[in-house]
Amino acid sequence: MIIYFSATGNSLAVARQIAIATNDITVPLTEAVRKDLSTEHRVGLVYPSYDFNAPPAVRTLVERLKLNPQAYVFIIIPCGAQAGNSIWTIRHLLQKKGIEVSYSHKIRVPDNSAIVFGRNPNDQVWKFTRFANRLTTIISDVVAERKYLHFAWWSPISWIMGTNHMQQWMLRTFRPAVNEDKCIGCGTCERVCPMRNIAVDEKAGIGPHCTACLACLHACPQQAIEVGGKPTIKERQYRNPNIKLKDLLLREAH
Ligand SMILES: Cc1cc2nc3c(=O)[nH]c(=O)nc-3n(C[C@H](O)[C@H](O)[C@H](O)COP(=O)(O)O)c2cc1C
Ligand code: SF4
Ligand code: SF4
Repeated sequence: MIIYFSATGNSLAVARQIAIATNDITVPLTEAVRKDLSTEHRVGLVYPSYDFNAPPAVRTLVERLKLNPQAYVFIIIPCGAQAGNSIWTIRHLLQKKGIEVSYSHKIRVPDNSAIVFGRNPNDQVWKFTRFANRLTTIISDVVAERKYLHFAWWSPISWIMGTNHMQQWMLRTFRPAVNEDKCIGCGTCERVCPMRNIAVDEKAGIGPHCTACLACLHACPQQAIEVGGKPTIKERQYRNPNIKLKDLLLREAH
């Protein structure tokens, strides 16, 4: 089983490509926590890095996973450039649960947070061809169940960036807000938020459990979700080219 956490589809696209090769299924992390995975013999975790660390939501959800201690567990980070401590953090969290991570790697993909800094993530699609070989390597390593930890070492700079204090600051910086003048109450953001943190009545309302993943901002058809009061520009909204909006919509809770 390949478990993923994905706001704009990069992690889902990588998870799917691995799953095709390993003949596995892909399951969102938010659903995987509700399953008993103790009979799975191979488990992949594919999630982005946020602020040089694993997204806070991924850390909380991985704590709840019920995994087989004998399983071949691997971690892949599709990120803009820096995986930071995102592998180290989850590896150590799993170790405390008696689970060893056998393999890890990162792959560079468009940085969906570039939009917050006035840049266009779509200008970074060149990374798909530039780093295609990396994905091929990852897939063949995982199929062969090789054991090697890439990018899994602890970095003090990433640690400083990823402390709770810094992450809270980053969360505040990246946390989106709804521009009510633009919102038409279509409900897309509600269905795409992996934290189930948005409720739409006549207008969208963002709750307190935001992990600043920017899924809502990139998916809103009216560009009504903004960060720092700056207008969201349609051309800078991003979704992985191989992923459709419907692939990112939450399935009903069961
Ligand atoms: C809040 C936030 C923080 C991010 N921080 C980093 C980072 O520290 N390093 C990095 O390389 N990419 C960073 N990114 C970019 C994402 O890791 C990257 O775009 C990833 O592929 C998104 O995955 P997804 O499309 O599956 O959601 C950040 C993105 C967000 C939303
Ligand atoms: S996706 Fe945009 S327009 Fe639709 S409800 Fe959410 S904020 Fe409003
Ligand atoms: S409110 Fe938006 S940014 Fe926050 S967790 Fe939900 S989708 Fe992500």
